[in-house]
Amino acid sequence: MQRILITGGAGFIGSNLVHNLLESRPDVEIVNLDLLTYSGNAKNLEDLSSPERHHFVHGDICDHALVIRIMEKYQIDTIIHLAAESHVDRSIHNPGNFVHTNLVGTFELLEAARAYWIENERIPTSEVRFHHVSTDEVYGTLAPDDPAFAETNRLLPNSPYAATKAGSDHLVRAYGHTYGLPYLVTNCSNNYGPRQFPEKLIPLVIGRARRGETIPIYGDGGQIRDWLYVDDHCRAIQLVIEEGQVGHTYNIGGNVQITNLELVKQICSLLDELLPKSPWNPHSQLITFVPDRPGHDRRYAIDMSKIESLLGWMPKETLESGLRRTIRWYLENNEWLDAIENRETYSDWMEKNYGQRKGEV
Ligand code: NAD
Ligand code: TYD
Repeated sequence: MQRILITGGAGFIGSNLVHNLLESRPDVEIVNLDLLTYSGNAKNLEDLSSPERHHFVHGDICDHALVIRIMEKYQIDTIIHLAAESHVDRSIHNPGNFVHTNLVGTFELLEAARAYWIENERIPTSEVRFHHVSTDEVYGTLAPDDPAFAETNRLLPNSPYAATKAGSDHLVRAYGHTYGLPYLVTNCSNNYGPRQFPEKLIPLVIGRARRGETIPIYGDGGQIRDWLYVDDHCRAIQLVIEEGQVGHTYNIGGNVQITNLELVKQICSLLDELLPKSPWNPHSQLITFVPDRPGHDRRYAIDMSKIESLLGWMPKETLESGLRRTIRWYLENNEWLDAIENRETYSDWMEKNYGQRKGEV
């Protein structure tokens, strides 16, 4: 049995990873450590295929003693670290949370791994792995003709979110270099798919469009992102842990580069098709340009030749097939979206982030 500690496993990517691992790997046992912040959701962990191999712990990655207790009790040999504050707009409003969770939290987790695996030699280091899940945003922004982000690019983060993720990438690398911690890092592009908190663009658009609410596009909508379907990301993480070279970074992308405006129009067309009786057809009439995000990165693009050539990984979903699956999931799970959208904390966030932009809505 591989005994995996997943941090942030009640969030979007973490919960998809838990579902995927339990389904595809009968030889894994998972401990899921999650603080259930606003984006963590116990509902994301319903209907697991093998719940007896999943142990949920409600707690904080900053709680060193708790992490050590978990590692000892379950003899953890693999950590997949996803717990984070993950939304750029929130990092602009409240960067302190990001410094605390993404930097201090990663530090505390690394310290626990160092104490249990390296200082106390509980498990041979050849058998352990610390996998850090990071983002392409650490590389900064690209001009239209720049080559895509390679693993060798300098880290030039522009938002407080990206800066704290870059800092955590550096900490992980330093623990490998200094203490011999066997680590791997993946930097991936924008994920989308089921169970994503509706503050992020794609579920926000679906959630608002189904109610006939305006769809806010920052600035001119000409910003370019690479979009990765979450299941493809989960497969890549598993492959990197199994076959990646310790101490290496792998970039992961969806092979899709599209402007925000084009993406939103594509979502609207799919909604027109999937909801033919909607009173808001065509849904693109809801698109509204609002003042831009400060410091907004213009373009991200991923060079994924390393993971492709060395590990043979490629995304399976196209943007269209991934969007169809995603939109169907949200439409079939209306109540999942409703429960979040009806929370007072959610309306508070919407007011905080979009209220000041109202003048132009
Ligand atoms: P998310 O916000 O949906 O989930 C984060 C999870 O972490 C939540 O369940 C939350 O409760 C938990 N958490 C937060 N603070 C914690 C703490 N102190 N202790 C324990 N748990 C805590 O985020 P996501 O989109 O699933 O992202 C997961 C990881 O992937 C993050 O590290 C993020 O930087 C990275 N990433 C995300 C994307 C993306 O497009 N979503 C892209 C690249 C990288
Ligand atoms: P987001 O999902 O927040 O991811 P990230 O900032 O990590 O890339 O946003 C994706 C893109 O969509 C980004 O360029 C910002 C833009 N965006 C909007 O235009 N309107 C919105 O309401 C949101 C949330 C994002």
